Amino acid sequence: MFKRFRRLRLNETLRNLVQETTLSKNDFIYPLFVKEGKAVKVEVSSMPGVFQMSIDEILKECEYLQKIGLNSIILFAIPDLKDSVGSECLDDESIIARTIKAIKEKFPNMFIVTDLCFCEYTDHGHCGILDPKTQSVHNDKTLEISALQALVHARAGADMIAPSGMMDGIISTLRKTLDENGFQDLPIMAYSTKFASGYYGPFRDVAESTPSFGDRRTYQMDVANRLEAINETLEDEKEGADILMVKPALAFLDIVRDIRNETKLPLCVYNVSGEYAMIKHAGLAGLIDYERVVMETMIAFKRAGANIIISYHAKEVCEILNRN
Ligand code: PBG
Ligand code: ZN
Repeated sequence: MFKRFRRLRLNETLRNLVQETTLSKNDFIYPLFVKEGKAVKVEVSSMPGVFQMSIDEILKECEYLQKIGLNSIILFAIPDLKDSVGSECLDDESIIARTIKAIKEKFPNMFIVTDLCFCEYTDHGHCGILDPKTQSVHNDKTLEISALQALVHARAGADMIAPSGMMDGIISTLRKTLDENGFQDLPIMAYSTKFASGYYGPFRDVAESTPSFGDRRTYQMDVANRLEAINETLEDEKEGADILMVKPALAFLDIVRDIRNETKLPLCVYNVSGEYAMIKHAGLAGLIDYERVVMETMIAFKRAGANIIISYHAKEVCEILNRN
């Protein structure tokens, strides 16, 4: 006697009944890149389908996103002005603040997450203030300006703040700052496990944030380290993070599962630019069934234990879900 597993795969209805993991439009956050100007919509060559957009174009995009049932975005800004300390993003009239206000005015229930970092705003392209002694990012000075940036986002009307610079103590710093300034109800999504990854390449094209020297290995994590990932994540939870994250996603699903088993908090994965580019270009070259591979990849994130998926595919996924 042997067990007949195929009994439960006989037809689609039965297969759907026993399906363990599902995808919904509610699972997704869609990244948007805002740039100064009017009527600017520039496609990123390494990421077909992803654009740098001026605020007026971002508003059109938000209208479409809401129409297809995609209600959450994560915003990145590409400023005209860059300097050594990223002053642009510390101003209430910064491009990201103006974008948040413009979106909230037209689409008050669009959920806006803001990426909080300095690499898009510094002329050297690193994620904070440089320590002249080490030529690496100065942790505690960067915490101070991160608190200021968080308040700019909060006052503009952001719904959730996601610090991505990997400075130690960032979560407790932001929680304290937000609480002391009347933003007790503003959640923080920690980029709690962010690896120093080659998969960020195309993002740095679109965000114009490639470091002018060196790399990010003194603040982002070593891709070889599993215990360190769990350790950092649990520390962010202790410091008061509301949602945790693993980034990149595809090559790190073991970490997603480990963290899922260690915490009760919601867990997000960031399906990053290089992952998008690989599947997109393979699809455009006719090498794979693009939509099928995209959906398989998204289900893999959920199956590994993620509740929330940040993905450049999010718009296409919602369009596919609407068709079915
Ligand atoms: C900024 C930031 C990066 C990404 C998100 N926030 C780039 C980096 O750390 O170099 C990567 C996103 C992607 O590759 O899609 N710190
Ligand atoms: Zn950064």
